[in-house]
This record gives sequence, structure tokens and C-alpha cells, in this order.
Amino acid sequence: MAQDSGAIDELRRTGETFPLEARTAARALGASRIREVANPHFGVRDLARFWVGEGDEPTPPFICEAAARALTDGRTFYTHNRGVLELREALSDYLRDVRGLDPTPDQLSITSGGIQALMIAMQALLDPDDEVVAVTPVWPNVTEIPRILGARVRRVGLRVREGAWRLDLDELLAAITCKTRLVLVNSPNNPTGWTLPREAAQALLRHCRRLGVWILSDDVYERLDFEGRGASLLALADPEDRILSANSFSKAWRMTGWRLGWLIAPAALEPELSKLLEYNTSCAPDFAQAGALAALREGEPYVADLRARLAARRDRVSEALATLDGVEAARPEGGMYVLLRVAGLDDSMALARRLVAEARLGLAPGIAFGPESEGWLRWCIAAADATLDDGIERFSQWIRRGPSA
Ligand SMILES: Cc1ncc(COP(=O)(O)O)c(C=O)c1O
Repeated sequence: MAQDSGAIDELRRTGETFPLEARTAARALGASRIREVANPHFGVRDLARFWVGEGDEPTPPFICEAAARALTDGRTFYTHNRGVLELREALSDYLRDVRGLDPTPDQLSITSGGIQALMIAMQALLDPDDEVVAVTPVWPNVTEIPRILGARVRRVGLRVREGAWRLDLDELLAAITCKTRLVLVNSPNNPTGWTLPREAAQALLRHCRRLGVWILSDDVYERLDFEGRGASLLALADPEDRILSANSFSKAWRMTGWRLGWLIAPAALEPELSKLLEYNTSCAPDFAQAGALAALREGEPYVADLRARLAARRDRVSEALATLDGVEAARPEGGMYVLLRVAGLDDSMALARRLVAEARLGLAPGIAFGPESEGWLRWCIAAADATLDDGIERFSQWIRRGPSA
């Protein structure tokens, strides 16, 4: 101890300093722009909040009861790194019966949320300096994870054409070269609600197969595809394809706080995925996995009802916004969000802050998801009709007051 303080005195005397700094890639990460707008308003009353990507209802009781029973039964221990076998078998059945897929349990890993499925997949695949191509805008975690790992992200932007967000397939294929290691696609997309068309999915698979490029499909919103037009890359893939799918219990079963998801990967990656799971979290909580089992086995009526309610809310919000002068709302094909913009107000951070101050309305700034959605605001529609109507009323009154004044 005395020796240590002597060393510190010496440092002070010589003026030599060692900065208290995290590693370069960690320092370079962007902070959440949604948090930047929302954090000062935690606990503030009379504020209609639609900025966070989760519903306003708790997890359905049949799922909570299964987890509560598991807790009472003493399921408080570690599980297999890749999750309880019974859950992986049930997941395999669900994927076959409901999604028309055919993975074996050794291709499945239960993860701590969809976010961990993305993280583990990219930890398994990316080296520093690898190039990743991402379809954007997108939930920022999808593009920050490669940066944590020291990889470089090249963005291919969706654009609004005729009132809907669209992908320029030629642009995407041209961006994917033999230098690309991984392609990231999220469909239905957060924040735009865009879904990947079948022909684009087939062309992407063919292109990546030819170049030996990996694809990581973020399928977290796949059960919330309103028109059923989005293609599943996994369903179109061949067994030899380099493809992984990250998924989650968060959105379709309203289990955000449970931190449970899953990853589907080629069986060849299984040893690495098990090790990475061990060194990240060891496993997902056992009693929570009991809830997930109930979700998969008994949850289909709930998911169908939730999707129908969200589709109706998408219509409710988009139609109300369409009646307002100077407001444009692109109609989402799936997901939980409606994007809107106000003519002449292109700075989404400034606009989000003004709406909090002047309309007591909390929306997420589009810039949080990338420059492609700058100028737009994201409205999470997973809320009760009355709550949405209150938000629409606040926004309409603000528009009628003449916001550019
Ligand atoms: C596109 C996308 N992927 C993955 C996730 C991760 O979800 P979770 O970690 O809650 O399962 C989210 C959450 O908002 C998301 O929007």
C-alpha cells in the first residue's frame, strides 16, 4: 500500500498521467438519442409517452403463471448454456408448425433477449475491421454491435416512395462485395415498418451464397407482419446457406422485461455459440424459460389477437395523421411503429423536444435510427386506443396552433 502511494506521488511529481478511459471502440459508440429526449422527463406527469418500443400491457397471465409455478418449484438454478432442452424442443415444434421451418434443437439457442441473440451471432462471426452491410434505418443496437466488435458498418438506406418505405435492391446487392463479411436485415423493420419482399429476399440469398457472405436476419417483429407480405429469409434459405436469425419473446408475447430471445444458426457454429453464451451470461434464467415454454405452447391465440389489434391501431393512427395539414405518415406493413413528419420541420431532435414542451407528447426522433430517418418521428402504437386517441388529440391541437410559427 505504502509502495503504491509512493508510485502515485512519483507520478504527480513528474506530471505523467494515465487517462481513465474506456477502449476506443466503446468511447466511439453513439448514445441513444431516444434516451436523450426521454430521460429528463422520467416521472413527469401529464406527458403522453410513445417513444419507447414496448407495449403498455403486461405479459399475459398464462405466461406469468407458468414462470411463477417454476419459481415455486425451485427452478432457480443455471440451465444448459443454450437453454432448457424442453424449451428448445418446443421452439423446434413451434418453428415447424407455425413458421414452416425445420431447424433441429442443436441449431437453436435460447438467449437473454433478441439483443443478446444479435450480440452472440456477431461475436461469433465478426473480426475487427470486418465489413458489415446493414439495411437502414434500423434500431441502433443492430448497427452499434458491430462497432463494439471493431467492425465497420456500411449502410444501405430505405427510402420513401409513394407513401411507403422501399429498398433499392440493386443498391443493396452492389454494396455487398467479396469484402463483406455479414449483411444485417431487419424485417418488419424498426422504425419504418418496411418488410422484405420475397423477390428481394431470394436475390439477396443468391448473391450472398455466391460470395460466401453471412446474413443475420433480425426477425424480432416477424409475428407482427400485418399483411403477411414479408419474406422469411430463413424459410427461403438452403441448409448450406450462411444464415442466422435473431428472434425474441419481447414483442409478440409482450415479454420485454423477461429478457428472452433465441438464435437460429447453422449447427456448425454450435460449439462457438455455446462458449460465447457461457462467457456472456451462462444461460437465460430457468424460471423465465418456463414462461417462454407456455408462450410457445399456448400463445397462438394471443399473438393473433395482438397482431390484429396492432394492425387496427396502425390504421387508427395513420388515418388520423393523414387528415392533418402538412403531416405525412408512411404506412407501415408491420411492427409496432408509425413514422410521421411535419413539412418544414426537418430536425427530428428539435421537433421531438418541441413536442414534449409544447404538446406534452413524447415521440422518438428519427435520427436515433440513422440519417435515413432524419426528419421523421417514431410513434409506438402498442398502446390502448384511448391512450392513442389522447396522443393524437395533443398532436392535432399542436398542428392546428401552427407549429412553424
Ligand atoms: C429491431 C429490433 N431487434 C431486436 C430487438 C431486441 O429486443 P429484445 O432484446 O427486447 O428481445 C429490438 C427491440 O426493440 C428491435 O427493435
